[in-house]
Amino acid sequence: MAVRKVLRMGNPLLLQVAEPVIEFGTEELGRLIEDMFDTMAAEAGAGLAAPQIGVSRRVVIFGVEKNPRYPDVEEVPTTVLINPVISPLGSEMEEGWEGCLSVPGLRGRVPRHARVRYSGHDQYGGRIEREVSGFHARVVQHECDHLDGILYPRRIRDLRLFGFEPELAAPGGPRSD
Ligand code: NI
Repeated sequence: MAVRKVLRMGNPLLLQVAEPVIEFGTEELGRLIEDMFDTMAAEAGAGLAAPQIGVSRRVVIFGVEKNPRYPDVEEVPTTVLINPVISPLGSEMEEGWEGCLSVPGLRGRVPRHARVRYSGHDQYGGRIEREVSGFHARVVQHECDHLDGILYPRRIRDLRLFGFEPELAAPGGPRSD
């Protein structure tokens, strides 16, 4: 187990399209996923994609536990998702604030599909298929974008709603309420 260095925006590895996983249940895949969970926990992230630690494979993890201190934060089950496929359900888009461990200190308002179906495999090759909405749908779309070399700032429509966290949250800022 190891906390790995998270690559930051500007590193060309974050722009690569990652390769599918061919073999499941291997020691190598197990170690990668363990390192990803250690890194996500150390950085207090909601999700992480393998390319963020420099591994160009189609592997993402995510999960948010219910926290009584933040009752507005929706719970997302802890998930390992490999070779994911996402399809939008309906045409509704939703704007929401996002951050990324590869873009530290910043947040931006990003449009995402409000409802999606996603499928893929767990670390042992078991099939995963879910229909989700809200924050869960947002997290999956954000993480899977990493596998195609897309960081969330590229999806922001109004760059006035992109900035450093304390400034955005300061009185008069777009996140002040
Ligand atoms: Ni990210």
